[in-house]
Amino acid sequence: VSFSDDNSRVTAVLPTGESIEVLLYGATVISWKDKDGTEKLWLSEAAKLDGTKAVRGGIPLVFPVFGTASDHAQTSKLPQHGFARTSRWEFLGKSTSESTPASSTAADLSVKLDFGLSPAALDSDTKSKWPYVFNMIYSVTLSRDSLTTSLVVNNDDDKPFECQLLLHTYLRVQDISKVEIKGLSSATYIDKVNGSSSQQTQSSALTISGETDRVYTPATPPTDPVSVVEGGKTTFTVVRDNLSDVVVWNPWTEKANGLADFAPKEGYKNMLCIEPGSVVGWQTLEPGEAFEGAQTITISN
Ligand code: BG6
Repeated sequence: VSFSDDNSRVTAVLPTGESIEVLLYGATVISWKDKDGTEKLWLSEAAKLDGTKAVRGGIPLVFPVFGTASDHAQTSKLPQHGFARTSRWEFLGKSTSESTPASSTAADLSVKLDFGLSPAALDSDTKSKWPYVFNMIYSVTLSRDSLTTSLVVNNDDDKPFECQLLLHTYLRVQDISKVEIKGLSSATYIDKVNGSSSQQTQSSALTISGETDRVYTPATPPTDPVSVVEGGKTTFTVVRDNLSDVVVWNPWTEKANGLADFAPKEGYKNMLCIEPGSVVGWQTLEPGEAFEGAQTITISN
């Protein structure tokens, strides 16, 4: 496993050719390539990677609030999607492990990169808006055909706090008009595009043909996959761990036009956000308590 840390990003490459790149700013995964060098995540060509703005693309981390919450006293002062995606995380180190698949005698390697965030790394403005003592560990594990990202939040304070968290994954697709999302049938959802807060129910596989911004809460266990099928072929399978909700987002034409850091403007045809999270209601963490949520995205070649 080769590995480099130039002080702004960490990259890791498996002997079989797969690679990931993680920016310390936001601990944002900005690239995930398969063995052939094909990129699996969408990253805007106009994304700011210099720490001046949350990254448009890859996997930004949403914490401790999803969107904004003017009616939630603890997080009402925070900017959209909180501060995890705009804070500089510390690289804690890497570890590798081997597993031998039943079908082979050669061992597969995987590499795990760990990142940490605590109040010491926050600017004073953020600390004043969210004055809790916490500690987060974010682990990004690259295996041959999958990527696992796992976030643990610890309450190190002497009072409880309430939080939401979400893994805002921008998957790369070839042609959004050929994409179907399976695994959400009969799930209830809130449609943020029409602004209504009433629950609706997904009746069949989901296709995207306009601006889409939905918060799904499937009744099935998080371990039941949500899959992306393109032109009849499954390209991504997303399995959640302890994350009950899935946001599906595509800005489509107008919204993409309005986002300065979204390029090319036609890029909405090549992306689909499938965002596992815990964002309906709040996770209450008592002093000393921790919450862990994760996703594993598997690619089929
Ligand atoms: C999604 C939200 O998760 O993120 C959308 O559901 C939002 O409402 C989108 O527009 C992008 O947010 P941002 O802050 O990165 O532009």
